[in-house]
Amino acid sequence: MSAPWWETGVLYHVYLRSFQDSNGDGVGDLRGLTHRLPYLSWLGVDTVWVSPFYVSPMRDFGYDVQDHTAVDPLFGTLDDFDEMLARAHGLGLRVIVDWIPNHTASDHRWFEASRDPSSALRDFYYWRDGGEDTVPNNWPSAFGGPAWSRDGRSGAHYLHLCLPEMPDLNWHNPAVEKAQFEVARFWLDRGVDGFRVDVAHWIGKHPDLPDNPPDDGSAFINPAKPPSAFDRVAHIYDMDGPLAHAVYRRFRALLGSYDPPRMAMGEIHLGDLKRWAAYYGADDELHLPAYFGLLSVPFDAEALAAAILQQEGALPAGAWPTYVLGNHDEPRLASRIGAERVRLAAVLLLTLRGTPTLYYGDELGLESISVGEAAARDPLGMRVPGLGRDGGRAPMPWTAGVQAGFCPAAATPWLPIPPGYHARSVACQQRDFASLLHLYRKLLYLRRQHEVLQRGALADVAVRDGVLSFVRLWKAEQVRVCLNFGRQPAALPAGKVLLRTGTGSLLGSNEAAIIAVQS
Ligand code: GLC
Repeated sequence: MSAPWWETGVLYHVYLRSFQDSNGDGVGDLRGLTHRLPYLSWLGVDTVWVSPFYVSPMRDFGYDVQDHTAVDPLFGTLDDFDEMLARAHGLGLRVIVDWIPNHTASDHRWFEASRDPSSALRDFYYWRDGGEDTVPNNWPSAFGGPAWSRDGRSGAHYLHLCLPEMPDLNWHNPAVEKAQFEVARFWLDRGVDGFRVDVAHWIGKHPDLPDNPPDDGSAFINPAKPPSAFDRVAHIYDMDGPLAHAVYRRFRALLGSYDPPRMAMGEIHLGDLKRWAAYYGADDELHLPAYFGLLSVPFDAEALAAAILQQEGALPAGAWPTYVLGNHDEPRLASRIGAERVRLAAVLLLTLRGTPTLYYGDELGLESISVGEAAARDPLGMRVPGLGRDGGRAPMPWTAGVQAGFCPAAATPWLPIPPGYHARSVACQQRDFASLLHLYRKLLYLRRQHEVLQRGALADVAVRDGVLSFVRLWKAEQVRVCLNFGRQPAALPAGKVLLRTGTGSLLGSNEAAIIAVQS
């Protein structure tokens, strides 16, 4: 039986603002992406996830949607989108886009209408009475401060788990589901292959909006980030209730009504993996609830092995895992783990059992840029010190030339071009067969050649003397992957070397090898 493309393929995450500018305004756009699609096909990824390009006031750079079915002029037009999609499909690439069910921009016509207490759309959002100084409950916003703001017009409070300019939709109102499913249908009818569902679990709020109990934040601790007030509450009533599961069962049915069926990958941050795994349902909710466990542990053999086994152990029968090492909300992978380990990361991401998501620029080993206060753009970082996300969102360096080929010389890129981009650029690394970029390309090629790397079972996850190793098994094929996180060289296991990052007779520190084992 053949496996669906979302299980065998590799996703490439394009943060559109930073990928390729085509019109000289310093912001990446859809035509720019179209122009760069051949690069993605050269690299060998299968699916492109394009971050939001809908009409938006851009307070959260497009996650605050003002018009779900129109393209923001900053990114182009609907025709540009159609052309990008057709070109991608022509190259054999699939395309998924963000579906943002939990909130809209406050400039959205739904919210504008709902500000009037007598409006038929009042119930599209969560409006509650409260005093001038008292809020309806103790929920904090993930973007700092309380999750409630008072609207001057009626004096009532509305709920927002993100910015005050991003009110939360009330999914207990069936009209909200109908409206958001229509949005999904609009993009499915245009031919997208699926969605990345933004903070998917947040739609499941308790209808009475009770106070959340406090928590020590231990479930959310991520060494790369200081815990925020949002991490110090137990998220019991503000998200992840039964409503979310009911909605995703219907959403899955919607996706399944298309021929061929479309896919949904969910952004679900829940420390409790039982709650996280529930989003697979009985294979009738999200196809791929994304697993972020490798982002929040130290990048060493023991911690990674534990996080891998933790996901495997939490999966319902038959469910397919996922892996993420970087995204637009995190510091850059190379900065988090250290430049000397980026090759280990590449091999790990592309050989584990599960669908990998590769964040643009991680294949070049880009590091986080430091953005001074004056140049800072991310609203989260401005409101919660230490949580700024600009560092991981710098423009993609395509060439060693002016502005790294991202935008014309005269343009000002929206975030600084990464310093030292010359040697890191795509053009330079393409010329160097020993580059990190070529390692990613070889790994992607190897995955296509060896079904075992795409579909094989995972076995023998072990750590010995700092070497993390595991086996993939598929029919008669068996490969062993060894990653040396230790300081000492280790022995190479017997078998035919399919790929390795070093050359000596031993597996050196920070080197990895993929070996075909005779069974
Ligand atoms: C998700 C997105 C993030 C955005 C937030 C609000 O976490 O990945 O970038 O700010 O949702 O939509």
